[in-house]
Amino acid sequence: MPSTLNIAVLGGDGTGPEVAAEGIKVLAAISKLEGFTYELTHFDWGGERYLRTGETLPDGGADELRKFDAVYLGAVGHPDVPPGVLEKGLLLELRFQLDQYINLRPVKLFPGVETPLAGRKPEDIDFVVVRENTEDLYCGIGGFLKKHTPDEVATQSAVYTRKGCERCIRWAFEFTRKRNNPKGKMLTLVAKTNVLTYGHDLWWRTFQDVAKDFPDVKADYNHVDACCMWMVKNPDYYDVIVTTNMFGDIITDLGGIIQGGLGVAAGGNINPDPGGVSMFEPMGGSAPKYTGQNVINPIAAINAMAMLLEFTGQPKAAQRLYKAIHQVTGTKMKSQAAGKMGHGTKEVGDLVVAAL
Ligand code: IPM
Ligand code: MN
Repeated sequence: MPSTLNIAVLGGDGTGPEVAAEGIKVLAAISKLEGFTYELTHFDWGGERYLRTGETLPDGGADELRKFDAVYLGAVGHPDVPPGVLEKGLLLELRFQLDQYINLRPVKLFPGVETPLAGRKPEDIDFVVVRENTEDLYCGIGGFLKKHTPDEVATQSAVYTRKGCERCIRWAFEFTRKRNNPKGKMLTLVAKTNVLTYGHDLWWRTFQDVAKDFPDVKADYNHVDACCMWMVKNPDYYDVIVTTNMFGDIITDLGGIIQGGLGVAAGGNINPDPGGVSMFEPMGGSAPKYTGQNVINPIAAINAMAMLLEFTGQPKAAQRLYKAIHQVTGTKMKSQAAGKMGHGTKEVGDLVVAAL
């Protein structure tokens, strides 16, 4: 456990800084209660800076972040910046350069939170998606031929490596073992082996190989299309899912909505290797239309802070914080939607502090 937790804060764009401020407020409270110290260093990377300087991730930026114990991110995305610039130039660049090969996205329905799935209760929706975070269609390999002509050709390649899928699958098995679900430990590989007969064959074979080291974990498989149906029909079926980057992106938005929306969903971009730096973020975007109005839901960002603590040697503080979040969603909030919470952004942060 680091003696002082050194956190790089990337508030980012839109409502990012507002929700991050609530996560930091909660950090201030819990660090006192649990007796640890922390230090924050703020970075102004994001859309505003890009519009001013043309820079997304400044030169040497990733190396600078390597000096920290963790990165806490608000949101990336600016209405005046064309799509892809900040996403690729900042968010994906950081995931890749810091080799955060696990994108961990818990899908958990908190008490009091409404799910669009009829009749479902918190005990029915509680699983985790482990998304590979450095390969697949995200690697940016492709190009155009005869661009802007009627004969135009575009290619976009998915790249999968044995190393890339094995380290992710192995981590997912270990995570499933540690999670130790009382209903039985099960890891479901979600892919599309019936069509992607090269890339996902590699995933499938690797999954089978690694499974041999985890006889106590049931190794399960779903095609991604079927998984989308099951997540809606029988979310209680799942314990842990491991999947590719692109499919993981898609199914975790589905996961996000069944757990009550982007106001609550959070994720960790994790580099589990020794000395690796991980980055924690609310899943919602920068929500420009709500910026500066004190109406955006900070629960996802506070949830991301709890994940940060869980993965940086403060598991007790994390558990305490999760409990406080559940108390607030369960007894204090009318809704998880922006502007409908029954409280402002800052007040929800205060409620979590009070619940601690
Ligand atoms: C996410 C986001 C990103 C992704 C975008 C913003 C590049 O949708 O974190 O899921 O596709 O990974
Ligand atoms: Mn996404």
